[in-house]
Amino acid sequence: FAFTPDNLAWAEAQITKYPAGRQASAVIPLLWRAQEQEGWLTRPAIENVADMLGMPYMRVLEVASFYFMFQLQPVGSVAHIQICGTTSCMICGAEDLIAVCREKIAAKPHALSADGKFSWEEVECLGACTNAPMAQIGKDYYEDLTADKLRALLDALAKGEVPQVGPQNGRFAAEPKGGIT
Ligand code: FES
Repeated sequence: FAFTPDNLAWAEAQITKYPAGRQASAVIPLLWRAQEQEGWLTRPAIENVADMLGMPYMRVLEVASFYFMFQLQPVGSVAHIQICGTTSCMICGAEDLIAVCREKIAAKPHALSADGKFSWEEVECLGACTNAPMAQIGKDYYEDLTADKLRALLDALAKGEVPQVGPQNGRFAAEPKGGIT
């Protein structure tokens, strides 16, 4: 693994933001950029970040394995679906969404679909409980989901479409009139 020249320059700029001896503070941004470049965090990518920050490989792996925003195995080339399975989403139908993932992607979490385009996993609360059940796909939230809406979402993504993010039931917060005072 090696960062592309642009990503390397960006990573080095992140490291200089912190005082001498505190370079480890840049570990999350560097891991995130490595994942954006590769799609997931390979061992060589984690080793590279560790070397750049003067950290033991194990310390960086601890960080990468703690947060579920980091993927330690290959993900679908089109999308990795993270279904929230915590209380609000569970009560409102997360199990139906997981059943769709098992049916349309793969029986087991983190496995790739037959065409390699999709993967999925169940994650803990993503902070959008009021619009449960929901899923995160890439950086986007898709909320107020149903099994049928998730199926449609996966079909749209497979065709290269860019689905509308946010609530999937037409419930959008109105812009505050006159701005927030
Ligand atoms: Fe699902 Fe919080 S419980 S987003």
